[in-house]
Amino acid sequence: MASSLVFTSCIVAGLLITVASSGAEAARAFFVFGDSLVDNGNNNYLATTARADSPPYGIDYPTRRPTGRFSNGLNIPDFISEALGSEPTLPYLSPELNGERLLVGANFASAGIGILNDTGIQFVNIIRIFRQLEYFKQYQQRVAGLIGSQRAQQLVNGALVLITLGGNDFVNNYYLVPYSARSRQFALPDYVKYLIPEYKKILQRLYDLGARRVLVTGTGPLGCVPAELAIRGSNGECSAELQRAASLFNPQLEQMLRQLNSELGSDVFIAANTREMSNDFIKNPQAYGFTTAKVACCGQGPYNGLGLCTPASNLCPDRDVYAFWDPFHPSEKANRLIVRQILSGSTKYMSPMNLSTILALDSSKQ
Ligand SMILES: *[C@@H]1O[C@H](CO)[C@@H](O)[C@H](O)[C@H]1NC(C)=O
Ligand SMILES: *[C@@H]1O[C@H](CO)[C@@H](O)[C@H](O)[C@H]1NC(C)=O
Repeated sequence: MASSLVFTSCIVAGLLITVASSGAEAARAFFVFGDSLVDNGNNNYLATTARADSPPYGIDYPTRRPTGRFSNGLNIPDFISEALGSEPTLPYLSPELNGERLLVGANFASAGIGILNDTGIQFVNIIRIFRQLEYFKQYQQRVAGLIGSQRAQQLVNGALVLITLGGNDFVNNYYLVPYSARSRQFALPDYVKYLIPEYKKILQRLYDLGARRVLVTGTGPLGCVPAELAIRGSNGECSAELQRAASLFNPQLEQMLRQLNSELGSDVFIAANTREMSNDFIKNPQAYGFTTAKVACCGQGPYNGLGLCTPASNLCPDRDVYAFWDPFHPSEKANRLIVRQILSGSTKYMSPMNLSTILALDSSKQ
């Protein structure tokens, strides 16, 4: 009897907190677009081989179960949600994303996709970026039905957006097979010159759909991931060709963002130099508490870099001392370090400013 009373009053207190926090103090909404680096589980709902919904994925997630995140635990969007004081974004395809939960935002990302429609074709059913943007429009109609179209638009305009694209246009397109269609069509520098304006159209569309603060990550150090060390590298050296791709793509991306901001007359797009951030711990893993930034925690073959991370793979006992969780994706610990730089890094990492500065600026405008 007494215990059930205590239980009831806890529920009442919980309800009061929920009501209070859904008032004016509610955190800004957060929307996520892109590929496996930021997918929170949309591909779980699709017939595709690009998925992370079986163990040991999620081994360090609070539930200790796979969620569809390509991580042992939390990923980059999760740490950004944490910084915003929000719940993690739910995948747009999740049946749990309804009612008030829509107001937190949504995650539209889908592992395997790229800037181009022909990127990741081997994964068949993935949500290509054009479709992600269509879903964003559909999302806005659903929210308008809930809180009215004016408040829905305010929610979208006031939101933070993250978009991560480009890596797969190299790994799962241009370099997927020797003599790929795109590599026969373009020399690498020309391919990059083709990708950047296509990316610009996507970002312009995101702006047209109401996004006003957008973090845009570059590609990571593509040639240094365990998969490339195993397939292309020699003696543990990063693949020069993929490193060249990243070093052509990232500066041109930053330049395009500056141009777009100047056309819009506002710092809508913020470049996050994830290559620079990852290079820090690739060059000096020990300084960041890693014992290795070459060997993946989960995988097989040289550097645990071959094939997929599955229940049959080698699995390291302490995920926090590995920079890479699987052959392509950072560990939770590395994701945490990346988001720390997004939040408070200098202009070497974030341009024109870091996320703490954005949050401070935007809250003073209200
Ligand atoms: C990708 O496909 C969409 C939908 O079919 C189309 O609207 C878009 O123009 C295509 N993008 C490119 C770069 O071909
Ligand atoms: C980034 O954020 C921190 C606050 O966390 C601030 O002190 C620092 O000056 C910022 N750096 C730049 C270059 O904006």
